[in-house]
Amino acid sequence: MAWCPDGGVWMMMTMTIISFVQAEDSFRFFDLRVTYGNISLNKRNPPERVILINGKFPGPELSLVTNDNLIINVHNGLDEPFLLSWNGLHLKRNSYQDGVYGTTCPIPPGKNYTYDFHVGDQIGSFFYFPSLGVQKAAGGFGAIRILSRPGIPVPFPQPAGDFTLLIGDWYLEDYKNLTARLDGGRMIHRPFAVLINGNGNPASTSLTVDKGKTYRFRISNVGLQMSLNFEILGHMLKLVEVEGTYTIQSMYTSLDIHVGQSLSVLVTMDQPPQNYTIVARTRFTDIQSQNAVILKYSNTKSKTSKFVPRIEPGNEVDFSIKQARSIKTNLTASRQNAEGSYHYGRIKISRTLILESSAGVVNRKQRYAINGVSFVPADTPLKLADYFKIKGVFKVGSIPDKPGRAGIRLETAVMGVHHKDFLEIVLLNHEKIVQTYHLDGYNFWVVGIGNRWSTWSPASRREYNLKDAISRSTTQVYQKSWTAVYVALDNVGMWNFRSEFWARQYLGQQFYFRVHSPASSIKDEYPLPKNALLCGQASNRHRRDFTP
Ligand SMILES: *[C@@H]1O[C@H](CO)[C@@H](O)[C@H](O)[C@H]1NC(C)=O
Ligand SMILES: *[C@@H]1O[C@H](CO)[C@@H](O)[C@H](O)[C@H]1NC(C)=O
Ligand SMILES: *[C@@H]1O[C@H](CO)[C@@H](O)[C@H](O)[C@H]1NC(C)=O
Ligand SMILES: *[C@@H]1O[C@H](CO)[C@@H](O)[C@H](O)[C@H]1NC(C)=O
Ligand SMILES: *[C@@H]1O[C@H](CO)[C@@H](O)[C@H](O)[C@H]1NC(C)=O
Repeated sequence: MAWCPDGGVWMMMTMTIISFVQAEDSFRFFDLRVTYGNISLNKRNPPERVILINGKFPGPELSLVTNDNLIINVHNGLDEPFLLSWNGLHLKRNSYQDGVYGTTCPIPPGKNYTYDFHVGDQIGSFFYFPSLGVQKAAGGFGAIRILSRPGIPVPFPQPAGDFTLLIGDWYLEDYKNLTARLDGGRMIHRPFAVLINGNGNPASTSLTVDKGKTYRFRISNVGLQMSLNFEILGHMLKLVEVEGTYTIQSMYTSLDIHVGQSLSVLVTMDQPPQNYTIVARTRFTDIQSQNAVILKYSNTKSKTSKFVPRIEPGNEVDFSIKQARSIKTNLTASRQNAEGSYHYGRIKISRTLILESSAGVVNRKQRYAINGVSFVPADTPLKLADYFKIKGVFKVGSIPDKPGRAGIRLETAVMGVHHKDFLEIVLLNHEKIVQTYHLDGYNFWVVGIGNRWSTWSPASRREYNLKDAISRSTTQVYQKSWTAVYVALDNVGMWNFRSEFWARQYLGQQFYFRVHSPASSIKDEYPLPKNALLCGQASNRHRRDFTP
């Protein structure tokens, strides 16, 4: 056993206490204790109830290495059920560990549950978050970074430091009140603040850097709905990684980070030594909110730079679309982290899905839908219903491939797809807000982003980037526009596809992909974990013996 210096985590090499691990990979153990706490997020406001992980808000960063085996014991100290999910981790063959309603029974209050999964061939910047209800509005999130194994080349020199900034909109209302508000068919209020690493007081914290050196900043938007624009005044941002993919290293004055997205940039401290501000501010809305952290050059004596974010010329949406299209995969960057072929442009599409968002009122309550179907959870996690062959929990095919009739119906929506299918998914947004969608268990290639006021048609395929589109797990869809993605279904399981606009997700804008392989082999999917919690109609079931 060796002691690992970062974060008091124990690591053991090449042990065989668990089946289905790869030799030479290390085990990493985490204990995450979930409790309530009272924190004053802003000097002007009284303390608010937040969800702490190990006494911290945000929770501790999980610093991992490619191919690690993770054993994460989550202790639920809240007064209600709880689950953590891992935004952007692929959890190969293991949707049981995804920690969302459809895959995993909630951890009852006062109980604990040990997640057990393999990081796989991933690197990059991600985060974990509470997936049930709107607990995310109270915190409970934290960063995940996955470093390359030693000796594996990284497409840039080792930075002098590596900072994490979790940014997101924040609301004054207690999360249970917020839940009651949504359940009652009303929407959430305007954000009260933009938080950076759990702090709502502008310029109250600082990061210290040395002149001349280059630093990496990993930024995730862990908020509930607002797209944020990120900028370091006076400095250029060199984008190097987006949700586990090394990018073409382009320079940006500022970057839009939509809710649920993560990226990392390199910044060289090439300015006169003084204080600068790192700014995160709301975008595409009349709700102006922003927050800042001080970037402090060591040994500086001069004045703080003024708190004046850059105003981009022209329309914010056009600027953002242009920027989004410029974000591409660096095809020569060392490693295969896109999990699948780089020649995605040559693979034959086996099925096209056209997914249209909508909003409407059902039974006098606000609901949101995809192709007219608004998701409602059943009493049993879908993955367990599938495993135990419990009938009547969900129906495969309960959401259509294309938009159909007007109106919204409530359904435990599951789309059946085949292992090894290659999908084209066209996301249509006729609404006035920027939307963001995320797919668990996968990265997809963002092959096309429409112009403002454009409609998708088969002819739009001529504009697709079939060479070096970015591979990521979360994409925005601009207002009155569309985004097209390709996805290679190489990961068997029950995977959540959802709006990252959390109230919309909660009120139905999500469904599950059932990626099915007839083979029932552990080469395709791991069996139900031995310690899996059972609930709903699966409560008293006995596990079938698994025969590989
Ligand atoms: C937070 O503050 C409230 C009101 O003062 C108190 O009742 C509650 O116990 C506190 N919670 C925690 C976890 O400290
Ligand atoms: C709960 O935590 C204890 C150690 O604190 C551990 O021994 C036990 O296996 C855990 N239970 C589950 C279901 O993970
Ligand atoms: C939550 O709702 C209760 C009951 O309506 C109210 O007393 C309380 O002030 C609310 N708290 C917050 C923080 O919104
Ligand atoms: C620079 O920022 C640091 C940290 O916030 C602060 O203590 C210091 O007073 C600032 N210096 C100047 C000159 O504003
Ligand atoms: C792509 O990655 C390689 C390293 O594999 C690096 O040398 C090159 O500069 C990168 N290209 C761009 C355009 O970022």
